Amino acid sequence: SLPPQVRIVEMGPRDGLQNATSGFVPTEVKITLIDRLSATGLTHIEAASFVSPKWVPQMRDGAAVMAGIQRAKGVTYAALTPNLQGLTAALAANVGEVAVFGAASEAFSQKNINCSIAESLARFEPVIEAAHAQGVRVRGYVSTVMGCPYQGDVSPAQVAQVARQLLAMGCYEISLGDTIGVGTPLQAKRMLEAVRQYVPLEQIAVHFHDTYGQAIANLYAVLEEGVAIIDSSVAGLGGCPYAAGASGNVATEDVLYLLQGLDIATGVDLQAMINTGFWISQQMQRQNGSKVALAKGIK
Ligand code: HMG
Ligand code: MG
Repeated sequence: SLPPQVRIVEMGPRDGLQNATSGFVPTEVKITLIDRLSATGLTHIEAASFVSPKWVPQMRDGAAVMAGIQRAKGVTYAALTPNLQGLTAALAANVGEVAVFGAASEAFSQKNINCSIAESLARFEPVIEAAHAQGVRVRGYVSTVMGCPYQGDVSPAQVAQVARQLLAMGCYEISLGDTIGVGTPLQAKRMLEAVRQYVPLEQIAVHFHDTYGQAIANLYAVLEEGVAIIDSSVAGLGGCPYAAGASGNVATEDVLYLLQGLDIATGVDLQAMINTGFWISQQMQRQNGSKVALAKGIK
């Protein structure tokens, strides 16, 4: 059944910006985006990524971003950390939480983080241990949960195995990424069903990209099963640099509108989110990717 409330995990500053095609987004703009987002009522913002600047140049200013933001009370600022080097930088930047990111597809794992799934899990182990030693929680992502740009089909059983291992290694939450947005609702339910055999529902987040326009439908499908943590991106910003043609996460504004209609609480102000989405879209000279924002407009 539908959950009474949902926690939104805002992806705009990280997943949203990492693939920006409009050139380097100035550090000041990133900082202002995060500060505006933390004034909307969000409790969780993925703010930076401590990855190789050769692989993702857009995210190279993570330390400066973390140093520049106003840390709002009750907001957790998180960052991606693929290895110990990233974790060390993230902890030095005083992030509130970190995330490791693996994949359910071997081909995607190689393209994205340059190693096999097994190697990635072995690499995450000391990262998770070192984070915990500093009292920092670790989120675990599984990418390509409903299809891979390089290898096509991905079985729910394979997704479940990677999710199970990340949980066993100490991740407090597992975010299931439809990286290229190819999934449809029945597939989403079946994938969730497989993961739930190993991961408690309260520890499952969904991370749907909207490439094929299915994200809202897929969200409704898993909300019906009780999923209560949703990753989304203001103005639908984003895409993955290692998944050609992949468009952004589902727009946060569109998710908020869906949830309002279902009487599910989020604590997030829709109009403030819409205004922020128009602001960042203008800064980046891109179309606003939220239909709800386009319909309602700035106020
Ligand atoms: P590698 O080349 O195998 O790493 O990359 P390496 O350990 O051999 O190091 C090579 C060079 O990178 C060295 O520098 C290291 O210092 C440097 P050099 O000696 O050549 O000058 N390096 C780093 N620099 C800064 N920070 C670090 C770091 N690590 C190494 N943390 C690596 C392996 C994982 C580092 C690389 O493949 C990488 O950075 N990948 C990141 C890819 C990425 O960020 N993808 C997007 C995020 S994931 C995503 O979007 C999916 C998600 O949204 C869910 C979904 O939608 O499915 C989460
Ligand atoms: Mg993503």
